[in-house]
Amino acid sequence: MSINWFPGHMNSTRQAIKDRVKAGLDVVIELLDARLPGSSSNPLLAALTTGRPSLKVLNKQDLADAAQTAAWLDFYNAQPHTRAIPLDAGEKTPARALIKACRELAPLRGDIHKPLRVLICGIPNVGKSTLINTLVGKRAAKTGDEPGITKLEQKFVLENGFYLFDTPGMLWPRISIEQSGYNLAASGAIGRNAFDEEEVALELITTLKRRYPEQLQARYGLTELGAEDAVLEAIGLKRGAKVRGGAVQMHKAAEALLIDYRQGLLGRITLETPDEMAAWRREAAEDEARKAAERDAAQAAEKVKRNGRRKASSGEA
Ligand code: G4P
Repeated sequence: MSINWFPGHMNSTRQAIKDRVKAGLDVVIELLDARLPGSSSNPLLAALTTGRPSLKVLNKQDLADAAQTAAWLDFYNAQPHTRAIPLDAGEKTPARALIKACRELAPLRGDIHKPLRVLICGIPNVGKSTLINTLVGKRAAKTGDEPGITKLEQKFVLENGFYLFDTPGMLWPRISIEQSGYNLAASGAIGRNAFDEEEVALELITTLKRRYPEQLQARYGLTELGAEDAVLEAIGLKRGAKVRGGAVQMHKAAEALLIDYRQGLLGRITLETPDEMAAWRREAAEDEARKAAERDAAQAAEKVKRNGRRKASSGEA
């Protein structure tokens, strides 16, 4: 699937993160979507903040499959210098758990003399503004610029000795894993004009048929699940996506399914498992390596051809 993604303020965001690392960074919070905890993780962030302890926050856990969330928490908690917690960004008490987890990741920092400096990042629509509002409440003060730090950065003092830094804009990598593109689009992380809703809806139906068939059937009163396009048509019929004459408008049906999914109306659904994600990453890496080898071979063949032509035209034997 092709996604017409826009890098946005990518360069200024990248620079803001580099500046923060240089100025001092103790913990990186990566806000993930609990419905797609692998695809919503940003490889560029890991590359820019290597060596810093990481807190993975699986947000929107209320929309995700609880058993899968537990599997993803185990997966991330098994990684070095990493902790993972589930969250509903709008809930006050669980949000405080995040502060505790950050303090545990950097136990030598966190007083007035050595403040704990925490950076928060996440893909669009993952709930970052909601979480910051929940955490900041009335107590925290937003403070001015620090020397050497881009004006774009915002600093929130959550407690004595606990600074939360936020960088606007987005650090949006090229999506090299096809299934991640579908899952991100289904979740609402990608602007609607950037992808084909029907294609994404059909892919979502494939995943739902495989993993949550009862929930799909229950939501739309389907007695059986046929081919993907037949299911989408049946959804369109139920959701009034018909034109005059009775034919179903498939793009309207797709839109209805995606809205229902995003609002949690199909129940708690997670689109990927840690094992699947690992397999997709491997396939994508193999694919990239194969393409690079093909490119190299084509370039080498072109060079041989050019040399041959040059020798022929200069009359060399
Ligand atoms: P962002 O800054 O990362 O772009 O995301 P933002 O906080 O704006 O949140 C995006 C949407 O996700 C919002 O819904 C927000 O309410 C919702 N959201 C955030 N955290 C959670 C969560 O833990 N669970 C659930 N179910 N939803 C969450 P919206 O429809 O865009 O806006 P609104 O309905 O809140 O006005």
